[in-house]
Amino acid sequence: NVGNSTNILWHDSPIKKRDRQQLLQQKGCVIWLTGLSGSGKSTLACALSRSLHARGKLTYVLDGDNVRHGLNRDLSFRAEDRSENIRRIGEVAKLFADAGLICITSLISPYQKDRDACRALLPEGDFIEVFIDVPLHVCEARDPKGLYKLARAGKIKDFTGIDDPYEPPSSCEIVLQQQQGNGFKSPCDMAEIVIAYLEEKGYLRA
Ligand code: PPS
Repeated sequence: NVGNSTNILWHDSPIKKRDRQQLLQQKGCVIWLTGLSGSGKSTLACALSRSLHARGKLTYVLDGDNVRHGLNRDLSFRAEDRSENIRRIGEVAKLFADAGLICITSLISPYQKDRDACRALLPEGDFIEVFIDVPLHVCEARDPKGLYKLARAGKIKDFTGIDDPYEPPSSCEIVLQQQQGNGFKSPCDMAEIVIAYLEEKGYLRA
């Protein structure tokens, strides 16, 4: 039995993940970007996919805002709907990784248990959690969509960081901060850190 369904059997494909990876000369994985609204997840996802594409690597970005226009258009920002949002995107990302792609997800994904559940869907090592560690006051000062202002005025409810929690990862593969030591990291610099990790772990070859 699978989930709530009975009488459903798994069909094996004659073409395996390793065959697809061989064709693409890369290994399928999920790069899970997490952080507050305005922390720069979408910008980093763009920089990462652009840079990997230029190296001949096949990527696909699943952005929370975009997926909420289609597949997840029925979901709100209540805790149980956020969990469902993340669960569905985790399942889709798993399929993309199985297809051999480097799937980059860009979601606030505020709750640790939801991120852990997505990690558990993938083979060991293939879920690469990247925390974009930008403090709330910085995100709020940026306020690119004017949403923090609306949330402070009580016009948006359950806004992450204001009246809904963000649980930073307790342990994750990569933590990115804009200000590290004396240096300032641009989105391209951050993308290079993630790419160096992929290279080191062998994801950029079959
Ligand atoms: S979640 O928590 O992972 O389900 O959220 P996600 O799918 O990433 O969607 C976040 C974007 O939706 C906008 N938005 C809100 N964010 C947080 N809380 C509330 N209540 C909310 N309402 C709308 C916001 O623009 C987020 O975009 P980003 O790109 O993160 O700034």
